Amino acid sequence: MKLDKSEILKALETITVAGEGKNMVESGAVKNVITFGDEVIVDLVLSTPALHIRKRAEVDVMKAIHEKVYEKAKITVNVKVEAPETQKTQPQKNVIKGKPIPGITNIIAVASGKGGVGKSTVTSNLAVTLAKMGFKVGLLDADIYGPSAPIMFDVEKERPLSVKEGGKSKMKPIENYGVKILSIGFFTQPNQAVVWRGPMAAKALNQMIFDAAWGELDFMLIDLPPGTGDIHLSIMQSLPITGAVVVSTPQNVALADARKGVAMFQQDSINVPVLGIVENMAYFTPEELPNNKYYIFGKEGAKYLSEDINVPFLGEIPLVQSIREAGDVGRPAALQTATLVEQAFEEITKNVVQEVVHRNEHLPPTEAIKITTMAGCAAVKNKK
Ligand SMILES: Nc1ncnc2c1ncn2[C@@H]1O[C@H](COP(=O)(O)OP(=O)(O)OP(=O)(O)O)[C@@H](O)[C@H]1O
Ligand SMILES: [Mg+2]
Repeated sequence: MKLDKSEILKALETITVAGEGKNMVESGAVKNVITFGDEVIVDLVLSTPALHIRKRAEVDVMKAIHEKVYEKAKITVNVKVEAPETQKTQPQKNVIKGKPIPGITNIIAVASGKGGVGKSTVTSNLAVTLAKMGFKVGLLDADIYGPSAPIMFDVEKERPLSVKEGGKSKMKPIENYGVKILSIGFFTQPNQAVVWRGPMAAKALNQMIFDAAWGELDFMLIDLPPGTGDIHLSIMQSLPITGAVVVSTPQNVALADARKGVAMFQQDSINVPVLGIVENMAYFTPEELPNNKYYIFGKEGAKYLSEDINVPFLGEIPLVQSIREAGDVGRPAALQTATLVEQAFEEITKNVVQEVVHRNEHLPPTEAIKITTMAGCAAVKNKK
């Protein structure tokens, strides 16, 4: 059973919170509805602290969804109380001083430190899972040296068209599985070795960000190249990143690099919140024997790292053949329903969304960093 967000909202429109006059969707009391399979999370913001009104709202939400949408829906209602004068009329949007990207609400960078640990795999599966949850999703493949999104989404042969928007020509992202994609791979020949100078790469990326017709997006995911280098700085200079997801495998070499990756985002001059760490290839499991787990790269290394440096642990993904195969044929594994892999990505995606919601509630929007001097660059790089 897949619950539909618009049906949930319709059901919530039948509820009026005592003292508010309008229904709870119109009055802005419903801040967020996240659906996932037969689960739904409803975030409410009420202006009254009276306990009976809060309880009443909770019960009404559960009743409306059970009666009007699905009687077995698993519902979580989070209620927050805000005095009316502090209630924000606008949800937190990313606004860069001087350079807003209209319509894009959350930008999430996926990074790793070490190469080959599964950033692109995690990014593509997060993207399709978010799309399945009903979010509007974009994916920017910023790995100019080894773009993978065109292959992972089976759109290798596509070329973005140019469309007019506000009198300007813009490139239209390629869409598949509900995800809008732009990648440098669309503009190069498959066998061509792309050698970019830093400023050229930065320019190409900027075009894919600002000269593209992304439309409204709830999430833009950015698949970063490995390491902590120029491209990372350039992206953080151009974009207000909502938060970063760091991917690591459990072995020590990868963990050491993941630690540096986290440190890069947390630098004073960069200050991008780290939403958490994903442990990829956490254990090998043969698909026909899912209870047999072989910890070939070590056990729970990324989990311990996240505890050690005090960032959330977002979940683990097993090493299974189908993930690699799915990547190669261009149909992210999380699209396969009722599988261990779908479940693992659902868990992680839910955690990412919750961390984003939490982050947006507690921290101001990230500003694009300004590193204009070589000394600034060196300071960041020396942290490596
Ligand atoms: N959990 C997994 N199970 C099986 N194969 C996986 C898993 N995660 C990633 N892979 C495979 O490992 C290879 C490397 O993954 P991927 O390209 O996502 O890594 P990356 O971190 O983006 O690499 P790069 O640093 O080169 O950008 C791919 O072939 C991918 O299909
Ligand atoms: Mg990659």
